[in-house]
Amino acid sequence: MIEVSNLNVRLAGKPVVRDVSFTAEAGTLTAICGPNGSGKTTTMKAVSGELAYRGSVHMNGAEIGGLEPWQLAEMRGVLPQASSISFPFTVREIVRMGLASGRSRHPEQADRIATESLAAVDLSGFEGRLYQELSGGEQQRVQLARVLCQISEPITDGRPCWLLLDEPVSSLDISHQLAIMTLARQFARRGGGVIAVMHDLNLTALFADRMVLLKDGRLQAEGSVKDVLTDRHLQGVFGCNLRVNRVPADGASFVLAHSALGD
Ligand SMILES: Nc1ncnc2c1ncn2[C@@H]1O[C@H](COP(=O)(O)OP(=O)(O)O)[C@@H](O)[C@H]1O
Ligand SMILES: [Mg+2]
Repeated sequence: MIEVSNLNVRLAGKPVVRDVSFTAEAGTLTAICGPNGSGKTTTMKAVSGELAYRGSVHMNGAEIGGLEPWQLAEMRGVLPQASSISFPFTVREIVRMGLASGRSRHPEQADRIATESLAAVDLSGFEGRLYQELSGGEQQRVQLARVLCQISEPITDGRPCWLLLDEPVSSLDISHQLAIMTLARQFARRGGGVIAVMHDLNLTALFADRMVLLKDGRLQAEGSVKDVLTDRHLQGVFGCNLRVNRVPADGASFVLAHSALGD
């Protein structure tokens, strides 16, 4: 489990995350949603162990501030929101960075994991391509393959591993969005944990188990998608006229922007 209690982060002297508490269970996909600037990325960076914070963040029972970098690297992989790389690395070199930061592996096993990770993000055959010469969506998938090389198993030594994904599908076409969200959900169903910052409320409704809703650095709601994805919460947080509807066949939620309809 990841337990975040009274998380506070200040950046450049300004409080950016204020008293945020939530939990994410292994076996589930937890989505963090909220407007631009609401503190989603900052929260993810704190939970990843990349930013100083006040409060507590427990990952599998340990306060992350007390873990060594290698312990964190074996327990969680991080997909940042943006990854600009200014050197001419190949795709192969970037996924190898994931292998290097995770657990040590036999060379054949490392090769197999690299090949499988690239296949999982639909980039087989891209090994020799230069990262800088790929499209934004392809670069995002290379970064995810790097994370999957680092955290290749949802459970290691009997403990869940975590994928912390900041907008994993924001640059992707619909088919790759569905493929990557399916992959993330399968990682969770196999016993791992996933926290993903999501902008697309409909993909969130389809794939997430739980939702954390932020506004102005504060928690507005936390719970099951059914309880959090409501007209009242969404209108309060996003300030526009959204309505949550249900597909009759299976009752899955979808969100319609009524403002756009002149309603
Ligand atoms: N390095 C920084 N220094 C100062 N303020 C920052 C920094 N990074 C982010 N912020 C501010 O913190 C707030 C939250 O940012 P962020 O967590 O990136 O939001 P989100 O991911 O929800 O869009 C924003 O107002 C942003 O301008
Ligand atoms: Mg962000």
